[in-house]
Amino acid sequence: MAIKFSRNECIFTLTTKRTAYAFQIAKGKYPVHLYYGKKSGEIKPWDPYVVSFSPYLAEFGNTWSPDIFPQEISFFGAGDFRTSALRLAGKDGNSVTSFDYKSYHYIDGTADIPGLPQARGGEDVKTLCITMEDKVTGCLLNLYYTVFYECDVITRHMELINKKKDDVVIEKCMSMTLDLPNDEYDMITLYGGHYDERNLSRNPIAHGNQSIFSRRGASSPQFNPFFALCDHKATENKGDVYGFNLVYSGSFLAEVEVDQMGHTRVQTGLGSECFRYTLKGGERFVSPEAVMTYSAKGFGEMSRNFHKFVLGHILPEKAVKNPHPVVLNTWEACYFNIDEEKLVAFAEESAKCGFDMLVMDDGWFGARNHDHAGLGDWTPNPEKFKNGLKSFVDRVKAKGISFGIWIEPEMINPDSELYRAHPDWCLRVPGRPTSLSRDQLVLDMSNPSVIAYLKGIFAKTFDGVAIDYFKWDMNRHLSEVGSAALPPEQQCEVFYRYQKGVYELLQWFNETFPDAMIETCSGGGGRYDLGMMCYGWQIWASDNTHPYDRIWMQRSALMGYPAATMSCHVSNPGENEKSLDFRYKVAVGGMLGYELNILRMTEPIKAIMSRQTKEYHRYESLIRTGEYYSLACPFETCYECHYYANEEHSQFLFGLSFKRSAKAGFVTAPMKISLADKNATYRDLLSDKVYSGEELKNGLRFTASGEEYEAILMWLVKE
Ligand code: DGJ
Repeated sequence: MAIKFSRNECIFTLTTKRTAYAFQIAKGKYPVHLYYGKKSGEIKPWDPYVVSFSPYLAEFGNTWSPDIFPQEISFFGAGDFRTSALRLAGKDGNSVTSFDYKSYHYIDGTADIPGLPQARGGEDVKTLCITMEDKVTGCLLNLYYTVFYECDVITRHMELINKKKDDVVIEKCMSMTLDLPNDEYDMITLYGGHYDERNLSRNPIAHGNQSIFSRRGASSPQFNPFFALCDHKATENKGDVYGFNLVYSGSFLAEVEVDQMGHTRVQTGLGSECFRYTLKGGERFVSPEAVMTYSAKGFGEMSRNFHKFVLGHILPEKAVKNPHPVVLNTWEACYFNIDEEKLVAFAEESAKCGFDMLVMDDGWFGARNHDHAGLGDWTPNPEKFKNGLKSFVDRVKAKGISFGIWIEPEMINPDSELYRAHPDWCLRVPGRPTSLSRDQLVLDMSNPSVIAYLKGIFAKTFDGVAIDYFKWDMNRHLSEVGSAALPPEQQCEVFYRYQKGVYELLQWFNETFPDAMIETCSGGGGRYDLGMMCYGWQIWASDNTHPYDRIWMQRSALMGYPAATMSCHVSNPGENEKSLDFRYKVAVGGMLGYELNILRMTEPIKAIMSRQTKEYHRYESLIRTGEYYSLACPFETCYECHYYANEEHSQFLFGLSFKRSAKAGFVTAPMKISLADKNATYRDLLSDKVYSGEELKNGLRFTASGEEYEAILMWLVKE
């Protein structure tokens, strides 16, 4: 049983395969956190103690201070001075928030989170709901804990129900609170920017509040919503690690706060800066789903827990079951110069090279000959497609290849037919200038008329056109966030409502074009999050396609997300065969694609690409669904090394790439494939060399020549 309640001590215990999570209802009123970590023996009730200057409720004596005991949910203003998860203002305008425990119930599977993406259930999934109530505002609060037993993941979200007639304003909303009993942790985050996504930062936490966040209306490349806390000595294979994430793609806040006692509070959710929500009488509000996992065996196990969770419960099932196509994307080859004849020739050459799909990127619609015009006008440019889109797509398909197309539904250029017709459909604040970014404005996705228009225009444009893939882009962040469709008191809801509009349209795409896959993108990997992963098969990892940079970008994405989510392209190698080989070996760390002018490639280069795609198709499933083991981290040394293993551990795809900084004669540490069977032999099907299991277990060493573009790839299969 994954969820247990011990009536005597009022303790709830949630267990996954290797972890336990426990809390107690103290004094019949407070949910007090007791434990999160390795499955262990006895879990003891909280032992209260007095701390001077800490407020307490007289009825329970001075040892029961909300400022001291570990909370399951922290409320603002009622004696807990630490950062809070929930702040509500009632009709008296006061924000003091306090709820008492009322009841609990179990749900088989998950609890619904209407309008937001959420993890799918499964046989091993159970939910506990704790209900609390506040007699002053008349609100009920449901805390949901969903246990994904096999993945060692627990997710959390909350639901507020306003039972009275008066409005209640939600001023801060975090999806989870986790109070850990000490502060001996490093915090791991992924920070960066456009072209520079997912750098890894590791720093000891300190007294006070440290946070990562987005105020941009997209989860953003500046801080990915994934983060982790680990003990100071934790490594890939050793040490305690807590990993966290949020199933959401908009502005967020994740906080880690160390208090006077050296306790650490962890929270993630919508925060308060970009969020405020008026809950009318009778309405309910549900927060995004927060995700937590614990590993007693370092980062490797944490990452594999997350990978299993994303593959089993987040990505659309067909994105896990089916091979992802090897695409040729036109962006770096054509930019806005879309030309039907050229693209048909691309399709022909692509098919010859074994690519599965041609993706026509930006530049095919309206007056989109550059990035100053046309966004919003989703009809094919008649000059570029004289016989229409369908005729062009049919020509592409006749070459024996499938077809994908680029869209950026959330955006609009001021120089567009749509803007001239509906200037009030973009985000703006009356009386203030509206900032441009890449010459574009943001459509008001919180406005139902905008969503209805987008559904209508895309349905019309793609009607009868056999599209197999959409690349859904987003090339600017949200500023001057205001909506002409909402009254003044709801303007602070726009960030959140915008996100719900995006999800509604994504859902519509999946339902309206059930045979097409979506790849999401945001100026590269700027919306690389669990929310987007609920709708799309994969995410464009970065506009930076240089393999030396991709080595670390891909490694850090794998901290929290499986390789199946990572779209990785080989970009123009020129005539350099070694560069092509290296680009390929780096790109097969994820889902392979190409981004180059295939008409300019020499015959020897095309011959290599044909060999690559043929080879890749044979082991793609190992990358898409295999277990990931990192053997060397490029943030720590001059090379990166990993392998993907199949479920039976009879096949390994092993990759090692030297960074540019690797000096001639440098010898790696032994790269150990610990899952190898020491009594078996393995053949590398790429070189036909045979290795004993013992040799692989003890580790292979590799020597750098000091030359550019050096990488090793082995596909080891048990004989
Ligand atoms: C940004 C994306 O990351 C690129 O791949 C490309 O699709 C451009 N946008 C098109 O405008």
